[in-house]
Amino acid sequence: MTILKTSQLVKEYKSGDNIIKAVDTVDIEIQEGEFVSIVGPSGSGKSTLLYLLGLLETPSSGSVFFQDQDLSKLRNSLQADYRRNQVGFVFQMYNLLPVLSAWENVKVPMSPYRAKFNLSERAQELLEQVGLGHRSKHLPSQLSGGEQQRVAIARALLNKPKVLLADEPTGNLDSKAGESILDLLEQMRAEYGLTLVLVTHDQGIAKRADRIISLLDGKVVNSGTAAAI
Ligand SMILES: Nc1ncnc2c1ncn2[C@@H]1O[C@H](COP(=O)(O)OP(=O)(O)O)[C@@H](O)[C@H]1O
Ligand SMILES: [Mg+2]
Repeated sequence: MTILKTSQLVKEYKSGDNIIKAVDTVDIEIQEGEFVSIVGPSGSGKSTLLYLLGLLETPSSGSVFFQDQDLSKLRNSLQADYRRNQVGFVFQMYNLLPVLSAWENVKVPMSPYRAKFNLSERAQELLEQVGLGHRSKHLPSQLSGGEQQRVAIARALLNKPKVLLADEPTGNLDSKAGESILDLLEQMRAEYGLTLVLVTHDQGIAKRADRIISLLDGKVVNSGTAAAI
């Protein structure tokens, strides 16, 4: 079943007198539970495409569909609900709040809201799942890069999203720590039945996906299994 789909998706940015098409007429379909890598040179539109899928950016034209619903046609409160509950985001630089402990960082997405679950218990459980149960009181600065990314993954999973969007999550890590983050993402995918969309520069990591989508100048130039590309 298709969970995410784009139709003639375009995102333009103004740069002085020029208009850059960061995403140029993209049509992709992602199946529920699929693991897709997005690859391409720097500036090819990978991050922009991921942000459009997560509704962190809005399209200039065209549409993103989540389970057949055109996201741009949802009213604001339902768009916010999509961002908060259906998708989780993981970034290259972890984006943890430096003054909060690992445990507090995991709880951050729900802190303005009333949780339907026991927030503190769930945060601790997630930290245990990512192998950091014993580090929950540590500040980000007291953790390695790989450990900080584990905290960020726990935070992204707090609301049990259907889709995890990861923008170069291993880009700041050495290859061993990077592989181990991929192992964790695959483990979480199995545990939660996640759909995983991962932007990466690393061919070795891209190949672990069910399918690789290649971008160039905002356009899809290839899409297929690792073996076929
Ligand atoms: N907020 C923005 N304002 C202006 N230009 C942007 C913005 N975000 C991205 N771009 C431009 O869009 C293109 C695609 O960027 P991006 O999606 O970040 O590529 P990638 O992640 O593949 O490196 C680049 O030319 C970049 O400079
Ligand atoms: Mg990028």
